[in-house]
Amino acid sequence: MCETKDRAHVHVHTYNIHFHQDLMTLPNSLAKRKSARTMEVTNVSEYQAIAKEKLPKMVYDYYASGAEDQWTLEENRNAFTRILFRPRILIDVSKIDMTTTIMGFKLSMPIMIAPTAMQKMAHPDGEYATARAASAAGTIMTLSSWATSSVEEVASTGPGIRFFQLYVYKDRNVVAQLVRRAERAGFKAIALTVDTPRLGRREADIKNRFTLPPFLTLKNFEGLDLGKMDEANDSGLASYVAGQIDRTLSWKDVKWLQTITTMPILVKGVITAEDTRLAIQAGAAGIIVSNHGARQLDYVPATIMALEEVVKAAQGRVPVFLDGGVRRGTDVFKALALGASGIFIGRPVVFSLAAEGEAGVRNVLKMLREEFELTMALSGCTSLKEITRDHIVTPWDAPKARPAPRL
Ligand code: FNR
Repeated sequence: MCETKDRAHVHVHTYNIHFHQDLMTLPNSLAKRKSARTMEVTNVSEYQAIAKEKLPKMVYDYYASGAEDQWTLEENRNAFTRILFRPRILIDVSKIDMTTTIMGFKLSMPIMIAPTAMQKMAHPDGEYATARAASAAGTIMTLSSWATSSVEEVASTGPGIRFFQLYVYKDRNVVAQLVRRAERAGFKAIALTVDTPRLGRREADIKNRFTLPPFLTLKNFEGLDLGKMDEANDSGLASYVAGQIDRTLSWKDVKWLQTITTMPILVKGVITAEDTRLAIQAGAAGIIVSNHGARQLDYVPATIMALEEVVKAAQGRVPVFLDGGVRRGTDVFKALALGASGIFIGRPVVFSLAAEGEAGVRNVLKMLREEFELTMALSGCTSLKEITRDHIVTPWDAPKARPAPRL
């Protein structure tokens, strides 16, 4: 009985009238369809199909797409499937502790929210819903520079530990102002995205002439006259990036950032040992192994494949995090076994937001948490520190010496 109550039943939600009407103006809007449907969601990935059905094509494609051939997009998932468990048995797993401390903050679990832009395209509550869901789950939300809610608005949703993702604009006054505002609004760290000097080639966005719907703005930049995105002959976002984002960004700017803020800086988008060492030298307080959800350079390895190289190069001097393709509690465990201090999720947030707003994001966090707890129990781990490299086997592990068969 209790179990049924706990399960998520997704109803095609009613947008508020204003938003609904605006959304109707977008091509192929499913808001037009009246069908109400109830569906039980039992895992994180199922939200994608619901989002696809509900969202205008332009919006869904923007959220779902990867760059070019989308090889890395598939690989981000596939690589997890090639890592297998070496579970330990007959260990008392009646109590499992998933708590952790990240950047000095106590979290309920090592599962956090990655920055994803323009969340009000998914649901009218957008980033507010995500912030509330993260806070209720006792974890961190990272707010995108390109959010459709400002740092101040997100802060006003209530208490919560929040990081701010930064894109560095050509106009450094804009950057300095924004960083100051984030700090004042109580954000605790900067996630500096370093894999986007130009926008990756996302062909669906080009075909759809993707642009921010006219009833929304990039709220953090509204007062700076940079909140709107013009339509372009290809992707409006790619044009916006070409116009505003600083392609000259380099390691010296990581140092510069430290002169304008006391917030620690996590470098987001590192996938090699070389850059790990440079990031630490430049004063990074942490590293996020990320390929931007496969939306930037195609044919980079899955992040779970790059993780161990980065962890080794970091030598425990700063924490290393991972994002990209995490959809199961088993994925979380594998990342931790390879040395990550925690993971971030991107698309599951926007898809579940589209499906059922704050309740959807809460449910995603709850499902991942429960799956992770179960994975720990079935692997014989009762706390995060008990998760070791020996709990998994990867394709790049040397074959274990087998005892010679007795004849
Ligand atoms: C992103 N990502 C991203 N990253 C960033 O630094 N700033 C941003 O504004 C965005 N926006 C954004 C929008 C959408 C729709 C997606 C899917 C991704 C990348 C994001 O932070 C993260 O690296 C990936 O999403 C992680 O991969 P998964 O979980 O989506 O597979």
